[in-house]
Order: sequence, then structure tokens, then C-alpha cells
Amino acid sequence: MTDADGRRRIAQWLSSPLAREPLHHAVQTAAEHPGDPLAAAAALRRQCPDIEPPQAAAVLEQAHLRRLADERYGLTGDLLLTRDGLEQATRPAVAARRAGILARGGARRVLDLTGGLGLDDIAFSDAGLTVTTIERDPVTAVLLAHNCPAARVIEADATEPKLLATLLADLGPDDVVFVDPARRDPAGPRDALSGRARPERDPGKWSPPWPFVLDVPHGRIVAKVAPGFSPPADWHAEWTSVDRTLVECTVYSWAAFDAQRRAVLLTRGLLTVLNAEPGALPLAIAARPAAWLHEPDPAVVRAGAISALATLDSDITLFDADSSWLTGNVPSSTPALRSFYLVEELVGSTRQQRRQLADRGVRRATVKSRDVDVQPRGVLRDLGLAEGPEHVLVLTRRAGRVVTLLAEPAAARSD
Ligand SMILES: C[S@@+](CC[C@H](N)C(=O)[O-])C[C@H]1O[C@@H](n2cnc3c(N)ncnc32)[C@H](O)[C@@H]1O
Repeated sequence: MTDADGRRRIAQWLSSPLAREPLHHAVQTAAEHPGDPLAAAAALRRQCPDIEPPQAAAVLEQAHLRRLADERYGLTGDLLLTRDGLEQATRPAVAARRAGILARGGARRVLDLTGGLGLDDIAFSDAGLTVTTIERDPVTAVLLAHNCPAARVIEADATEPKLLATLLADLGPDDVVFVDPARRDPAGPRDALSGRARPERDPGKWSPPWPFVLDVPHGRIVAKVAPGFSPPADWHAEWTSVDRTLVECTVYSWAAFDAQRRAVLLTRGLLTVLNAEPGALPLAIAARPAAWLHEPDPAVVRAGAISALATLDSDITLFDADSSWLTGNVPSSTPALRSFYLVEELVGSTRQQRRQLADRGVRRATVKSRDVDVQPRGVLRDLGLAEGPEHVLVLTRRAGRVVTLLAEPAAARSD
């Protein structure tokens, strides 16, 4: 039996009723012995003496992955996971929102070309859509069928022309082809620190490749892509952040909503949508920095929706035409902005700046340098600071030069 056969057989066992009890015990023993996998394995062997060592290892790995999924995404339930699949999976809140857009847009069926662990497919089914999903990896396909029993799962390569033509023929004009190309090759190089497969930045090397997606002969294509992707000009796109982390961009081949580009912010469960209006008046540039600096949510910056912030907060102006920062007289209450009290601008040589910081008793800071090409670690080292949340050093541009601003998070000022 090859390795691949062995992994598939384990996946089939995991998704069978035979694994239900061992899985339950593995979750319990892992919780009772946090950080001690040997003790957890020994306890599991006592509780389930009949399972084989690879089965015991598999349920303990599931227990570990479920804890990770819960911690990272609030993902719970009877899901079977793989580490690589989890890293590529869509967050449930983001998947649910996207599925809602499709259902409200009149779709009744979705053809998912890249099923993965099925997080999007679960959301599509929950939104009332009929799901056909293709997954080429045999182990993932077994787990997908377990995770999304309502879907028709096809283990195949979605780029296979005959298969694709047959499945497309089942779709009506309002139905949707969804694709979330694999942007990490599990067999490729891994990051030394995190162990994660490295992301592929060239869309032509995604699986399936972007040119293939563009050529799918259907009127409604939705693709989840990397946040740094540049969408085709005539496609609609939204960039989504969850609690200020930019998580993805979704592109739609038709007018699925009333803006060509928009930012979608999910902040502690609260939804904010900001359209980038091409004709919108740009925000005014501040004559001088006001008492507060505001950092826009990364989805707003990426979607080019900065001008739309004026609809949420009338007090704000741009720090500079070349800066992504805003400034105002009071801390902002919109979730689209994070406010920092501007303590002072650091001036002079690095030595003089060090002295300014020492005079104020600043020992730790976080560097925010999106507007300037510098390494935050190098900035901290030069200024003799450790990394820490108490202060913020904003490196940005004003009047054609780089400025370094010392600021404090709004929460520190309200203590
Ligand atoms: C990014 S993941 C999908 C994640 C999924 N949307 C979720 O939320 O769980 C991409 C998946 O597509 C599969 N895949 C890549 N190329 C494929 C192809 N040509 N045909 C079918 N599946 C493919 C990969 O094996 C991987 O499981």
C-alpha cells in the first residue's frame, strides 16, 4: 500500500462512524493534557485499546487541529481538518456573507471548482444553495464529503474540459461558478518559522491558474483571491478584513453589488461596508497635524475607499497626499479607523531622537511604517527600543519627507 493509499484509508476511517468514539476521547484527552502529547496518547490508548497506532495518531491530530480552528476562526463542530486545508480555508463569517450575496442575487446552484475542506460549501448550503464541489486531492475530497454532506462532491481535476462542460451545462444564468485557487503548494517550500507552505504570488501559478478562471465559459464567476491581487478592471471586487486583519479579496465577474470596488470590515461581529466611489471628492489635506492620528483599516486602503471615510467621521483630514494616515481633533469612534494620540514628532539625528524618547521614558514601541520602505526591527534597534504596545512610532510622509511620529494608542489615553 502506498503512502497516499494509507492516508486516504485513514481519512475514510475518520469519516466513518467507527472513528466517532475515538475522536471524542482524543478531543477530551488532548484538553486534559495540554502541551503533553505523549500523556494524551497514553490516555487515549487506555480508553480505546482496539484502534491501530495510525488511527490514534490521526484522531489526536484532529483534536489538535480542531483546537487551532476554534482559536483562530471560532470554528467548531464535527469537522475533519488538515493543517494545509485549514490554513487555506475561508473564515465562516466571511463565507456566510459571500454566500448571502449569491443567494440574494438569485443563484440557486453553485459549482465550486476547488472544494478544499468545504468551509465555503457549508456556507453555500446553509444559504439554501445547491452545491456541486470538485476537489482533486483524494484525502481532502473524503474530508470535504464528511464536512459538507449536503454537497455533491466530485473527486477530480476541475480543469478537465469534458467534466467542466458537463457541470456548467447544469447551471442557469444566475447560478455561480466559485473558485478559491490553491495559492500554497503543500509539497513546495515552507516558511522556516511557521512551517506554513509559502504563498505563490504569481496568479498564473495558482491552482487552477488565473487565466483558466478567466476563460471559464459562464456569466457569473466568483473568485476568492489574495488581498494583493489586482482584479480585472471590469470585475467587481471587495476586500474583507476581520478585526483589522486583511484576509481576502473576492472578485465577481458581474455587477453583484453597486460599486466596482469596496471594503468590507467585520469588526467584533459588526459589519461596515465602504464603497470606493471613483467621482468622490478626495479628503482635504490637513494644514497641520491635529491632536489625533487615525489609521484606516487595511481593507479600506486596499479598496481605495479612503474618501468614503468622510461619511463615517466628518472630523478627519488626510495627514498628507502621500500618507495613508488621517488626522483629527478627537479619537474616532468608527471601526474603520484606529486612533492614536500624537505625542510629538521626533526630529534631528538618530541620537537626538533617542534622547527625545529617553526624556519621555519611552522604552517600547510598535513601528507602523506602511508608507515608508523600512524594516520595523531596524527602526527599533536604531532608536534603542524594544517591541511593545505602549507607544507607536508612525513613519509616514509629509511635504515630501519622511517623518517619525511618536503616538499613544487611544486606549492608553482613556486610562
Ligand atoms: C484554497 S483551497 C479551497 C478552500 C475552500 N474554499 C475552503 O474554504 O475550505 C483550494 C483547494 O483546491 C484544490 N484544487 C487545486 N487545484 C484544483 C483543481 N485543478 N481541481 C480541483 N481541485 C483543485 C486544492 O487541493 C485545495 O484543496
